Amino acid sequence: MTARGRVLGIETSCDETAAAVVERGRTVVTSVVSSQVDLHARYGGVVPELAGRAHVELALPVVTDALAGAGLDRRGRSFEDPAGPVGIDAVAATIGPGLIGALLVGVSTAKALALAWGVPFVGVNHLEGHLYAAMLEAPEIELPVVVLLVSGGHTLLVALDAPGSYRVLGATVDDAAGEAFDKVARYLGLGYPGGPEIDRLALSGDASSIRFPRASTAGAFDFSFSGLKTAVVSYVRAHPQVTNADVAASFQEAVVDVLVAKTVAAATEIGARGACLAGGVAANSSLRARFAEVFDDRGMRSYLPSRAMCTDNAAMIAAAGYFQLERSGPTPLDAGAVPDLQLRTSR
Ligand code: KG4
Ligand code: ZN
Repeated sequence: MTARGRVLGIETSCDETAAAVVERGRTVVTSVVSSQVDLHARYGGVVPELAGRAHVELALPVVTDALAGAGLDRRGRSFEDPAGPVGIDAVAATIGPGLIGALLVGVSTAKALALAWGVPFVGVNHLEGHLYAAMLEAPEIELPVVVLLVSGGHTLLVALDAPGSYRVLGATVDDAAGEAFDKVARYLGLGYPGGPEIDRLALSGDASSIRFPRASTAGAFDFSFSGLKTAVVSYVRAHPQVTNADVAASFQEAVVDVLVAKTVAAATEIGARGACLAGGVAANSSLRARFAEVFDDRGMRSYLPSRAMCTDNAAMIAAAGYFQLERSGPTPLDAGAVPDLQLRTSR
């Protein structure tokens, strides 16, 4: 690894094909994301077969774009010095969790480049990537922080003690937060993905019009959302006159209440300096507003990454790859992709 610590990150776990170059796990040189959301929208969800095929078509153009953004040609050499050394120190790719056919495209691309360039390959846990997203936009961040990771597939509360060192404090016992948004949106006849639709509709609804349940769980920092989804369906059946806007606003309020309350409790318990949002649901306007307000009231910092950093991107994978390489070294080139990879407390 040269002093610049330049890692090329590649992300293809779901429906975004992304590549980025990040220096020393902190400075984003370039980040390119090609979303397939339009490709899948007509099916109301991601179609794995289509995602894999699209990644195959997009991987090289996206990587080439990212390299160009870092001043490098597709062979990884500087445009100014095409006969000079490779300008990338390691290649990181998401190895899981995700769709197997999608993951394999990024993993194979990264291994091929690492082998051709004679640099290390690092296989990164996608969820660990999300933990670093806020840090990339707030280099001054003071640790430890609690990260609330809320996406279409995951809902996790994690204590980030130092780069590469984290503890899982809680998780959903059933549906992920984003999944609840998507399912309720589908029931209400709104578009896909449902989260942004509910967010928009909720602006014109009354969040206190319906009191939906705030589920309690055995674990203090665990979450449960499937009962809430059932409560929404039962309520709408029993009250056919209710407006979608009032349902959306009241449902969103119930989700945000639980997410914020548990994050505050976790931050207080571990003596955190602040808290970060991560994952696609972190784009939710009500969650962002309440998160900022509640931590501000307690004199703690809150970190709200931009929408581009909340959703899937490769800069966070490159950052996670850098810290993993420093702590644990490269990943063997015969390592596979792991669709159900979990986030486990690190040593
Ligand atoms: O992290 P992400 O882009 O993909 C993964 O699941 O990895 O998250 C997508 C999820 C979807 O469930 C989507 O409905 C939700 O994030 N989402 C939102 C908002 N924007 C995206 N949920 C609530 N409010 C939003 N504004
Ligand atoms: Zn994600």
